[in-house]
Amino acid sequence: MASASAAVAAAVSEERLWRRHMEIATIGATGRGGVNRQALTPEDAEARKRVLDWAGARGFTAAVDAIGNMFIRREGSDPGAAPVVTGSHLDTQPTGGNFDGIFGVLAALEVLDAASDAGVPTVRPVEAAVWTNEEGGRFQPTTMGSAVFAGSIPLETALASTDADGVTLESALGDTLSEMGVEERREFRFPMAAYLEAHIEQGPILEETKNTIGVVTGIQGLRWFQIEVTGEEAHAGTTPLGKRKDAVAAAVRMIAALQEWMRDESDVVRFTVGRFDVTPNSPNTVPSRVVFTVDFRHPDSPTLARLGDGIDAICHRNAMSCEVIVKETLSSFPTGFDTIVQNEIRRAATRQGWPCIDMVSGATHDAKFMVDLCPTGMLFVPCEGGVSHSEAERAAPADLAAGASVLAEAVVELANR
Ligand code: HGY
Ligand code: MN
Ligand code: MN
Repeated sequence: MASASAAVAAAVSEERLWRRHMEIATIGATGRGGVNRQALTPEDAEARKRVLDWAGARGFTAAVDAIGNMFIRREGSDPGAAPVVTGSHLDTQPTGGNFDGIFGVLAALEVLDAASDAGVPTVRPVEAAVWTNEEGGRFQPTTMGSAVFAGSIPLETALASTDADGVTLESALGDTLSEMGVEERREFRFPMAAYLEAHIEQGPILEETKNTIGVVTGIQGLRWFQIEVTGEEAHAGTTPLGKRKDAVAAAVRMIAALQEWMRDESDVVRFTVGRFDVTPNSPNTVPSRVVFTVDFRHPDSPTLARLGDGIDAICHRNAMSCEVIVKETLSSFPTGFDTIVQNEIRRAATRQGWPCIDMVSGATHDAKFMVDLCPTGMLFVPCEGGVSHSEAERAAPADLAAGASVLAEAVVELANR
């Protein structure tokens, strides 16, 4: 008779998993093949409610914490035991895809459903987690819900963050929580026996090497900065260049100097200026204010420290006649995952016959903040051409089902220890 974990893996339904992806894809669909379901918007609330409906239909219970992280629970034979938790996020980039984050949530729910379909009890409860605001597009920084849960960002700081329209996270969260109607409350950092996250790779390696499963050994380092440049408004037609305090002219010099500083012939450095807001943003007024963001990543800690620490001085050196404030909004050094969890993922993939390789994640994930709380690991499945954070993001039903089956087997093994 197959082991309990193998029985659950065999009960994973590719059809149900794909059908749920396509249903969630309609919530915030852009009409161009992608989705705009940003954190704590009505679309985010609707997707959360859809997941709650699916969970409720199976008798799973739900709880939320003070930042809106959601936990769906399948009871264990020892209800007092710390649960094994698996999950990801439902929020997306403004022009996002239908698999980044969503796959990890639906694979987690699939584990609970498959265990019930297979009639397999687990000693420990198993919970599917939905983390708030992983993307960090609307409210910065990224991986906010898991960072607050883990104590890395104070709740008050997160609640006070505002979006481009000045809406506070606190008010958007209040709307979402009242939409969801989940009564049970959870404390931050409640004990977990292990945390696993399934995710699309968001890169080309699995596809290029013809592997189905990535055993993720860790996440590269990530540092986010917000740079505010302040000049003076003036008439574009009458003000001599020598008398201007032009915030765009200064910001452009800073970005050019930063790109030079980050130049890397080995192409390992990841440096992105993704947001560039200008005030008053009028063609014939000299700009008085620019706020731009820096997303800097590197797998090597000393390099992440050295290059990241240089950003402030470079911005000040190129400020011209403007003022500049450089604020680091997230600092996360390279993270290693637990070998016990990696071994369970590798063992399950091998037993199920999926080619797999070890790999470091270039993208960041909520799992990063679980590492200090419990044994943590991730598995990847391929996405087409490695494309993500794009409406062209695609994944194959069979690969998603393979990932969910490996996740199921690893989770049930850990839940029966
Ligand atoms: O930015 C990231 O790495 C994640 O996909 N939000
Ligand atoms: Mn993600
Ligand atoms: Mn993402």
